[in-house]
Amino acid sequence: MVSARAAHILVASNRGPVSYALDPDGTLTPRRGGGGLVSGLSAIGAEADTLWVCSALGDGDREAVRRGVGEPGVRMLDIDAAVHADAYNGIANSVLWFVHHMLYQTPLEPVFDAEFRRQWGAYEAYNRAFAQALADEAADGAAVVVQDYHLTLVPGMLRELRPDLRIGHFSHTPWAPPEYFRMLPDDVAAQLLRGMLGADRLGFLTHRWADAFTRCCEEVVGGTGTTRVGVHGLGADAEFLRARSHEADVEERMASLREEIGAGRRTIVRVDRTELSKNIVRGLLAYRQLLQERPEWRERVVHVAFAYPSRQDLAVYRSYTEEVSRLAASINSTYGTPGWTPVVLHVKDDFARSLAAYRLADVALVNPIRDGMNLVAKEVPVVSDEGCALVLSREAGAWEELGEDAVGVNPYDVSGTAAALHEALSMAPEERTARTKRLAAAATALPPQRWFLDQLSALRR
Ligand code: G6P
Repeated sequence: MVSARAAHILVASNRGPVSYALDPDGTLTPRRGGGGLVSGLSAIGAEADTLWVCSALGDGDREAVRRGVGEPGVRMLDIDAAVHADAYNGIANSVLWFVHHMLYQTPLEPVFDAEFRRQWGAYEAYNRAFAQALADEAADGAAVVVQDYHLTLVPGMLRELRPDLRIGHFSHTPWAPPEYFRMLPDDVAAQLLRGMLGADRLGFLTHRWADAFTRCCEEVVGGTGTTRVGVHGLGADAEFLRARSHEADVEERMASLREEIGAGRRTIVRVDRTELSKNIVRGLLAYRQLLQERPEWRERVVHVAFAYPSRQDLAVYRSYTEEVSRLAASINSTYGTPGWTPVVLHVKDDFARSLAAYRLADVALVNPIRDGMNLVAKEVPVVSDEGCALVLSREAGAWEELGEDAVGVNPYDVSGTAAALHEALSMAPEERTARTKRLAAAATALPPQRWFLDQLSALRR
């Protein structure tokens, strides 16, 4: 790790690039994570003066901090577990995530009461711990890029501690339009926006989210002041994906998936965290409607759905996960035959198997209610073996770049989604191939390394 006040480029995020599993015998095993930010930072990763500040997220991480175990260039903050839980589960994932993805279900939600105020205090403390750590570690005039809705208040707090720094913030989520954002208590809404506006520059994945943010500022705090707002549409990492998807473990999983699917059948693939905004249940309802209304597809198609566990501390995610399994099982019992399982659902996270499914897919279903970008939509066309038709929600950030060659859906419209699945399954092979080529080109326009470097140079300008 770099010594205090020596880092010239700093990244801050709740989830860091590595986590530790604590075995019963006390052994700590590091696990490296993937994702756009990890590959983005690799563009400058060789420089010794970069530092990634993140949270210690479980027992393993906390034990690693206690033992002083760590990776070079990474500093994990061991924030009090109760404070972290209130900030992460309570405010970040139950309030801010819900606001930006417009997931509340009135008349039950939202309720901003004394419990909310208590959790809000934890969110402030959590953000302050990050601001303080960054202030301690950053060299004079260093560039700091803060990530996502967990750390909305950090830019403003850090600005007060270290006016010399170049501060950026990047949002990986959508941003709510003002009429939805203003559900938040007025003082909280203003505090969030002022926290963001402590940055020199703010980045969003699409113009739509950047415009929504600007409109929120105009309505709530009178404008964005001197803070610049930019758009960087994170793309897929073609080089990595093409190489990784041809490794032996992926080939093995293709073979076993082919067996599960059965010879001569089409496949509709989806890969998501089991996340409310991903709209997995409506996707299954649409598939059921397809089988119901178009019996010609029975026995001839399989829906391969990977729904990986996410945020299981939250009851609403646990019940959503159960609903997904229940619905998949009910479709299988209604329509399945001895030789045909209509829905193949896997819930155990397995990246190699995801890539195998991408390669095999005839149709990819990406139907989020709202999504910052959605990288699955961008990854499938890049690794697809024989071309894949993309059914894509108009509410995904990726729609801005991929809409022209996708089959578009309104994510709430189950009948419309069933019709889109039929259209995608019926697409002529030449057309599918041509569209996949164009999709892959659009999806890789801004690879993670350039995405990160562009932000950095814009921040330093
Ligand atoms: C989204 C967020 C990320 C987050 C990820 C996984 O992509 O933008 O900040 O890390 O979901 O969610 P989790 O709660 O498991 O970190």
